Amino acid sequence: MLAVVVGLALLVSWVIASMHRNHSSGLKDIPNAHFSVPYSRLWLLSLRWRKMENRSRIHLHRRLGPVVRIGPRDVSVNCIDNGVRTIYSSKFDKDASFYHELFDKTGFMVTMIGNDEHRKRKRMLSYPYSNSYILNSQTLDSVLSRVSRRLGEGIAEWARIGTSVDVYQQAKCCTLDVASGWLFGRENATDTLRDPGFENDLATLASVASKIVSVRTSFGWPISYFASLIGNGEPDPDATGRWQAWLTRVITDSHRRHPTKSASAASLYDHFYDSFKAANPDMSRNEVASFIAVECDDHLSATHIGLGTLLSYTMYELSRDPDCQRALRKELLTLAEPSDRSLAHRLANLPVLDAVVTETMRTRAPCPGPFPRVVPDSGCRLAGKFDVPGGTVVSSSAWALHFNPVPFPAPEKWRPGRWLEADENTVAEMRKWIWTFGSGARVCIGTHFSMRVMKELLATIYMDYETALDDGFTGNVEQEDAFSAAPLAGCLKLRFRRLT
Ligand code: HEM
Ligand SMILES: *[C@@H]1O[C@H](CO)[C@@H](O)[C@H](O)[C@H]1NC(C)=O
Ligand SMILES: *[C@@H]1O[C@H](CO)[C@@H](O)[C@H](O)[C@H]1NC(C)=O
Ligand SMILES: *[C@@H]1O[C@H](CO)[C@@H](O)[C@H](O)[C@H]1NC(C)=O
Repeated sequence: MLAVVVGLALLVSWVIASMHRNHSSGLKDIPNAHFSVPYSRLWLLSLRWRKMENRSRIHLHRRLGPVVRIGPRDVSVNCIDNGVRTIYSSKFDKDASFYHELFDKTGFMVTMIGNDEHRKRKRMLSYPYSNSYILNSQTLDSVLSRVSRRLGEGIAEWARIGTSVDVYQQAKCCTLDVASGWLFGRENATDTLRDPGFENDLATLASVASKIVSVRTSFGWPISYFASLIGNGEPDPDATGRWQAWLTRVITDSHRRHPTKSASAASLYDHFYDSFKAANPDMSRNEVASFIAVECDDHLSATHIGLGTLLSYTMYELSRDPDCQRALRKELLTLAEPSDRSLAHRLANLPVLDAVVTETMRTRAPCPGPFPRVVPDSGCRLAGKFDVPGGTVVSSSAWALHFNPVPFPAPEKWRPGRWLEADENTVAEMRKWIWTFGSGARVCIGTHFSMRVMKELLATIYMDYETALDDGFTGNVEQEDAFSAAPLAGCLKLRFRRLT
């Protein structure tokens, strides 16, 4: 009884609090998503809670145009020019309340709000993540060839016994093994393709974290306070302990080996340590190590979950389209011809492979957003006609942009051919709308890394094998409508067959 009374009191105070927020009259010209949005965020938060944000935003923009009001001071934006390009520039800060609900820890690049702090950190990391560095990195060459070899051994066995394989899990093992080697050096890479225990630990922690995030971002103040109490309960103490012990060990080992590393064996740790130390010469070794650990933890989980999701959906879509698989294989076989260019450079320039990856980035973006930004005091003008006052929270979502039928006719269809058949101008226009990695000042730094890893692993698979749907698998293959959008079934099952 008491619990019900307390619950009701909380609900009432929450409703009052959300109505009390300033309803900014500067937004009155913008079409409303719902009659209540000028007064309350309840509608928006309940969409999030019911996991309806994706569908709703797509349909709202189809019905009401590129700029729609979704809360008292919240606006959804779904156009590139006079929209995304404006609000994802360096003048717009991230919305602190959203980003701090999203992560337990702060102090790494994704969570940084202020421009100065962000610019300094980005300078430390941008060189090893640049395209030319990624394409020429010997560390990445050796890490990728080791993972490709292991994956090849696994597939040979799966094909031989004709078993059904959860490619979502196997893809996450591949990307985790690549990321750990890239971050800490080949010697300290994980080997979860052979020994998946550690991947299971991380997957458990990631799924608990994503549930907490979903609770936190679905409630405004003051419920978020209670959600943070729930969130601080240790999710799985054993898995957390093993994970932290491993991270501490690899950081310590990387630190010990750092002075003797040759440039060709340098890992991200080595670059990061040097630039961090140069910027903070007086910081103690332990303090530097803990800054580096938090950042590396983020890169590791982005690769593990984000890239694992994208890789496994690419395999899934290819399995539904045998013609496309044949075209891809024909293209991959050209790699057997001698060339004086490296594999990484050659893979970067294969049109069918690129179309397959880009089309999956469009229909299955692993981090769809929305990513909220705050309009600066000077205000801004959206879609050439709406003047939006400072303090308004504006956001775009990759799924809403990618399912816009104007640049992408029949947007729900996975059709790599759209990238191969269209003329140059149309392709350029479509590319503008691809927002898988965000854009502007806070675009993902892992883009080139992700592309190289994806293409090399896909080449390993489709050069010698074909994949097919597993008829016995009936799980839900749609993505979760969440910040990190994994398959709802928690797995994607396929079969492999050797091509001769
Ligand atoms: C397919 C995989 C990935 C996807 C879909 C993805 C997506 C994104 C998106 C949409 C953003 C912008 C977020 C925002 O505006 O708040 C972002 C930022 C970021 N990503 Fe990724 N990412 C992926 C992989 C990676 C990888 C592999 C790394 C690291 C190696 C990485 C590191 C980062 C960092 C550090 C930021 C923050 C950049 C900044 O604030 O300047 N991501 N990512
Ligand atoms: C409402 O807006 C005024 C002026 O813009 C500001 O001073 C005040 O703090 C705002 N109140 C809330 C609850 O956001
Ligand atoms: C990291 O690599 C070094 C050098 O090979 C090795 O001695 C150490 O045990 C490794 N640490 C981990 C955690 O794998
Ligand atoms: C998002 O909405 C589109 C259009 O309704 C749909 O095709 C897609 O499957 C949805 N994705 C998720 C994850 O809900």
